[in-house]
Amino acid sequence: MGDATAARAALKQLARVGRTRLAATPTPLVAVPGLAAQLQTAATVHVKADAWTGFGLGGNKVRKLEYELAPKRLEGATDLVTPGGPHSNHCRVAAAAAARLGLECTLVVDGVPENAGRGNAALHRLFGARIVTVEGRSQREAAMEAEARRIATAGGRALVVPLGASTPRGALGYVHALVELHHQLNGAAAWVFVSSSSGGTMAGLVLGCALLGWRPQLVAVSADDPADRIKSVAADLAVKAAKLLCEDAGSGPESAWHADLVERTREAAEAVIATDAFVGPGYGRPTPASDDATLLFARRAGFVLDPFYTAKAAAAMVEWIRDGKLDGVPHVVFLHTGGHPALFR
Ligand SMILES: Cc1ncc(COP(=O)(O)O)c(C=O)c1O
Repeated sequence: MGDATAARAALKQLARVGRTRLAATPTPLVAVPGLAAQLQTAATVHVKADAWTGFGLGGNKVRKLEYELAPKRLEGATDLVTPGGPHSNHCRVAAAAAARLGLECTLVVDGVPENAGRGNAALHRLFGARIVTVEGRSQREAAMEAEARRIATAGGRALVVPLGASTPRGALGYVHALVELHHQLNGAAAWVFVSSSSGGTMAGLVLGCALLGWRPQLVAVSADDPADRIKSVAADLAVKAAKLLCEDAGSGPESAWHADLVERTREAAEAVIATDAFVGPGYGRPTPASDDATLLFARRAGFVLDPFYTAKAAAAMVEWIRDGKLDGVPHVVFLHTGGHPALFR
């Protein structure tokens, strides 16, 4: 299949899956020659600007929630319940989406924000979410179930969206980003750096590669978990998303197309490079390299990074370019997944 034909077929398949449009897409692919010059690379360095998906101040959660909040799944729903940290980007966009769709929103948040009047914590409240605080991450599941029961007892129905909307369905949102990127780069060879945590973003990109038969080198830069976990979670989600895509399009597990797509998805997932070398002292804690990347992106490209996710993924890209690991690569892409409100936490 030619590139354009593969892209068309992939989009046709995806178009059969229910989706509620929220994101301003396609997001632009922005060349940043000033940053490339500073890094002394001959590669064209680009930013795929998913910080500008727009809705609820943008970022990667918007694409994922479009599928999690598909019209069929909303039928009869009165409430949206979802978990996250006290300054969660996902909770911000989920609360905004609930407001847009006329749902009550309950956020199950592990911990009290240092400053509830700033950053994402302020936005959770601005969008009208009810906040249920639990002590630790391990208590989130039980609290969400309790919230869903409470809502049912009151005669409503809760749509429970798992952490980061990183479900097989949510991952479908990132197939679109990969299809856009393929078109924007004309299918050229590229390395793509992506901040990874709950895995849905990377899973969608992987499935997109399998659908298009395009193999950019995807690099998953962990914000928290060990590299092998980051890679295996994304692989598992990608395979499940491939199966879901086939089933929603009416092609059962017995079809050759289905089996072939699952196989190609496994191969694409295996090819992902995952690194946890940039986490530093922990989730959200800056490192000299992430601080340096934040300044470079601001001063050489006019982009704002966040300390939890994108600054660490950018640090990986900067270091690997400087170390000559990407010599000879024609295009280097930083997928900017957003998170900038956390700068004002
Ligand atoms: C700004 C930002 N970038 C990247 C990620 C990681 O995406 P994923 O959870 O899909 O791996 C997140 C997740 O919360 C995020 O908020």
